Amino acid sequence: MKAIDPETHYNIIGLHRQMFFWSALLLVTVVWMFWADYDREWKKYQVEFLDKEHQKAQDAKKQASGTIDPEMASLQTQLADAEGALKLKQDELTKLAKEIDTHEALRFRKNGEFLDADQQVKSAKYFWDEAEHELLQAKGASRAHADAAKEKYDLWVKTLGDLKVEVEEAQAAKDVASAQKKALEKPVLDLKDKIDALALALAKLDKRVQDTDNEYWANRVRRIPFVEMLNPDIKIKQVQVDSLLDDYYFAKVPHVDRCITCHPPPKFTSQRKFDVGSSSPTDDNKEFDTPQLLNVYQSAPYLHDGKATTLEEIWTRFNARDTHGISVDLSKADLNDLIEYLKTL
Ligand code: HEC
Repeated sequence: MKAIDPETHYNIIGLHRQMFFWSALLLVTVVWMFWADYDREWKKYQVEFLDKEHQKAQDAKKQASGTIDPEMASLQTQLADAEGALKLKQDELTKLAKEIDTHEALRFRKNGEFLDADQQVKSAKYFWDEAEHELLQAKGASRAHADAAKEKYDLWVKTLGDLKVEVEEAQAAKDVASAQKKALEKPVLDLKDKIDALALALAKLDKRVQDTDNEYWANRVRRIPFVEMLNPDIKIKQVQVDSLLDDYYFAKVPHVDRCITCHPPPKFTSQRKFDVGSSSPTDDNKEFDTPQLLNVYQSAPYLHDGKATTLEEIWTRFNARDTHGISVDLSKADLNDLIEYLKTL
């Protein structure tokens, strides 16, 4: 025991060795943890999937550009023509705008007078009521006084009626002029709306391309544990089912829900149980083993109780809530393609 330090009576070399051994083990464990997280199968599917989505988005954009671009160009020329035509009618437009202003000013004034008259009617009614009341109590009041009050009241009521008509007339005249102006401007406005709609459609496609952009290094680097956590907008982008959760940085997050998640090659089964919403009310357990899909076409009827007679029915009848893969966004043609693909397995 030469290594024992006479001052401390510790085996210093032995301690160093122990320290080295456990540190190395810790390091290996941490590296392994990171790798295990990074290497999870669904992350690879996610990367693959994004690549495909990106390709799809680009194709969609290319295809749309083929029709949208010429349409846009034609709309632009039409717009220029329409604007030119409208310029020729500029005098008419100015006249109409002026008319609208005049009618509006009149309507505003008359409306003010109308509100005034309304007050006058109320107060005249009050004075008339009071005169009648005094007459009833015979406090030396005269009939003539009450009659005069009534006359005043009637006059205000009539004025109010007249003003109401005048306000309505001014409004109607304004409406007519506005409608005429709108009718003149309509071709231009309609074209502008169409152009906006097209631009929006293009912008949406562009955004989809950007959102699915899956640049090789950025994608891989961002997916490193913790880096990914710091950059949450690159989280699982595929459509997901809430009921399938996976551990993800101390949180439960929905597992990706694509056919391949549950039916991975070679046998097209993950050999796990899932609730894909295929249970019947009489089933005790809603989860079923994920079947393998080799030669699936020959194994009709489908699902655990054979309630789907054809492959189509699995999705058209028994997947109303997208619990068994996402099928709402599949067109009839897409579904046919999927079925044809399944037949080849
Ligand atoms: C959440 C996991 C999961 C996903 C996602 C999923 N499946 Fe399934 N699949 C299952 C389970 C579980 C069953 C068995 C259900 C049953 O028997 O009622 C099944 C059954 C099937 C069957 C019927 C097989 C048979 O012999 O009865 C086919 C075909 C199938 N899946 C194909 C697909 C396709 C195609 C997709 C993508 C659109 C898909 N699955 C997505 C888990 C999944």
